[in-house]
Amino acid sequence: MQQLPLLFITGLLLFSCKTNQPQSFSQVPAVPIDTTQVLTTIAFGSCNKADEPQPLWPEIVEQQPDLWVWLGDNIYGDTPDMALMQQKYQQQFQQKGYQQLLASTSVIGIWDDHDYGINDGGKHFAQKAPSRDLMLEFLQVAPSRPVWNREGGYQSYTYGPEGQRVKIILLDTRYFRDTLMESSVEGKRYGANPEGDMLGEAQWAWLTEELNSSDAQFNIIGSSIQVIHDEHGFEKWANFPKSHQRLYDLIAASEAQGVVLLSGDRHIGEISRLKLPEMPYPMYDITSSGLTHVYEEANEENRHRISDLIVSLNYGLIQINWQNHEVTYQIKGENGATYASETITYPMNDD
Ligand SMILES: [Fe+2]
Repeated sequence: MQQLPLLFITGLLLFSCKTNQPQSFSQVPAVPIDTTQVLTTIAFGSCNKADEPQPLWPEIVEQQPDLWVWLGDNIYGDTPDMALMQQKYQQQFQQKGYQQLLASTSVIGIWDDHDYGINDGGKHFAQKAPSRDLMLEFLQVAPSRPVWNREGGYQSYTYGPEGQRVKIILLDTRYFRDTLMESSVEGKRYGANPEGDMLGEAQWAWLTEELNSSDAQFNIIGSSIQVIHDEHGFEKWANFPKSHQRLYDLIAASEAQGVVLLSGDRHIGEISRLKLPEMPYPMYDITSSGLTHVYEEANEENRHRISDLIVSLNYGLIQINWQNHEVTYQIKGENGATYASETITYPMNDD
């Protein structure tokens, strides 16, 4: 008896996939975003193949996070065919574990290259506009959000009342990014593009305003690719040294409080730390990558790393103690494993 409707739905899905036009997903309704919510537990992760086992969702749900943040490679689309991209997003919706998360937690996020549509892709990807719309549909971004009315996928969300406020800024490191330079160093894929830009001027202007106007106690910046790690030969902010410095200068000059960076992309987990002379506290880059797969052979130097180099499936967890402004950053894995943990008490401005 159950088979007929199922066949009908499958037929509809196959039909819609042949049209080459993105159609709406049959979505699992997400928990709506409540900006009055006081965030105490935020979970995040990246690098997730829709057709592979996703064993971490039950563990993530058990943490009862107030929010889940996707940091990119949320699916492995890797295609200019938007019907195929949509099919892969649909496959992700069908993951039972992800459905559990959607039923209990609100979700925001940004993409990286594979869900953008092309490995290591930048601004020249021809399908970037329709791909952007599919990402926002997958994330169930409300039609009233400003991101729908501009180019690119960058977004910001502010939660909580005055004094318990968290701002999450999600950068788009794909849509406007200049071309990568191949490295001449053996074993490294990319080197520095001295003049190249990461964000594009519209996004830089937006980011400046978002940081300068922030009255949040904690400002979380999500960047799909690593910000602080500057030694490996893959994608990283350091491949665009001008943009890299511009980002640091912007953060320091803004005086935004409690800034932390989150990243993914690498199929590893690690915590990097950098103390900018202009800032009163160290900045962390919490890299959590590998919800379904990891880079097992990883063995690389990182002068900023203060944790182990984690090559097990992992997700990230942020816990905020609003009493004393102490924040704990963790990288966690299967069976309750905690692979890295770092606690910091941020200085707070009272004005
Ligand atoms: Fe990536």
